[in-house]
Amino acid sequence: MDKFIINGGKKLYGEISISGAKNAAVAIIPAVVLCDEPCVIENLPRIRDVAVILAILEHMGAKIDRKSDSVVEIDPRGIKSYKVTCEGLVSDMRASYYLLGALLGRFHNALVPYPGGCSFCERPIDLHLKAFETLGANCEILFDKIKLESEKLTGATINFEIVSVGATMNAMLAAVRTPGVTLIEGAAKEPHIVDLANFLNSMGANIKGAGTDVIKIKGVDSLHGCTYSIIPDQIEAGTYMAAVAATGGDVLIKNVTPEHLKSIISKLRDTGTTVQEQDESVRVIREGELKACQLKTMPHPGFPTDMQPQFVALLSTATGKSRVMECVWENRFSYIPQLRKMKADIIDNGNVAYIHGRDRLQGAKVRALDLRAGAAMVIAGLAATGITEIEDIKYIERGYEKIIEKLTAVGADIRRVTVKEDVDESNLN
Ligand code: UD1
Repeated sequence: MDKFIINGGKKLYGEISISGAKNAAVAIIPAVVLCDEPCVIENLPRIRDVAVILAILEHMGAKIDRKSDSVVEIDPRGIKSYKVTCEGLVSDMRASYYLLGALLGRFHNALVPYPGGCSFCERPIDLHLKAFETLGANCEILFDKIKLESEKLTGATINFEIVSVGATMNAMLAAVRTPGVTLIEGAAKEPHIVDLANFLNSMGANIKGAGTDVIKIKGVDSLHGCTYSIIPDQIEAGTYMAAVAATGGDVLIKNVTPEHLKSIISKLRDTGTTVQEQDESVRVIREGELKACQLKTMPHPGFPTDMQPQFVALLSTATGKSRVMECVWENRFSYIPQLRKMKADIIDNGNVAYIHGRDRLQGAKVRALDLRAGAAMVIAGLAATGITEIEDIKYIERGYEKIIEKLTAVGADIRRVTVKEDVDESNLN
């Protein structure tokens, strides 16, 4: 069990290059199951969730050929069954639920172990199942598996009363080879929804409207191989942007799509941070005092819930009182006691956190409770005085490629140690 040790208080200067988007990659890789030929996926982040979903496909019979750190060729022709049997791997990640839509679309049946992964709160899948049922599948939740069966699927109108990223993606996967026209109303509009649609269209699918409330899919008989490059990770970019705002400094964040960062940039500007948008990069400069602000999370194009913990950490050191409202997930504030160990002054009641910013946080021994909560601990540790020790970094490594290298390159004092290594405890609280 490894840990991060951060000696905080260093300003960050230099450049950070952003990897491919995790949440696009974990949908695009299972989508290859729908294809009849090999596909080459470029700009894949080298993170644990991607390694796990590739291992699942390999276990199912696909051939995985790593061309380089960020390029993989996937040949799905060896996948002959709709039954996924590698329970251990599937229960290791949430996004394994995309296998449901992909297998249903390809084989009209699916048997997939119940998905696991980051559990910052209850994560239902009723909307996914509703979409499959609307297309004609019977859905059954067994003790630890989900079973989908259908004689024949037919295009239909799926109407989501709650905006769901996963259910929108799964509906697209199931519908892409389903005869007839499928309309997805109340669709999510996140950049990775558009990326999945673009990938499927590159394989010969007929999907229009991704990125709007209504997605129209005309089913096609087959999909062909393609080469596709995944979009940059909006949340990884936002996390480093928040880190620079928290520590102060001047960092060029490269390989981003500034359009995807609008809501994050707008909130950073509210804190007094300068953000200069360029073609494929953003420059983040924070020299003066950090100011409190109000924010609420919303589906895209609103402020992303996956940036909420990082901003709570950031605002813990802003002058004044901030209010952060979580409107996507119930109870996504379970990490706040960890920030309190670092002397953050935060009160939360259900879905709202009230933050009374203080000059400096104090290094402490904390835990990464999930991926983004872990990122918040890193930001708090970078900005704090003294040493912060972060346990359970496996969650952070699910979603951040080379985080130590990227932060060290801009001047952070952060390292990864094994539990056995002697840590100087004198500065820990
Ligand atoms: C995805 C992201 C996750 C992010 C979330 C919201 C991936 C792998 N994960 O998760 O990091 O926090 O989008 O941007 O892309 N809901 C239901 N029933 C369902 C599905 C969802 O009620 O069947 C509710 C959830 O409880 C939540 C809301 O819908 O309140 C949004 O969830 P959803 O967009 O589905 O999140 P995920 O796709 O699981």
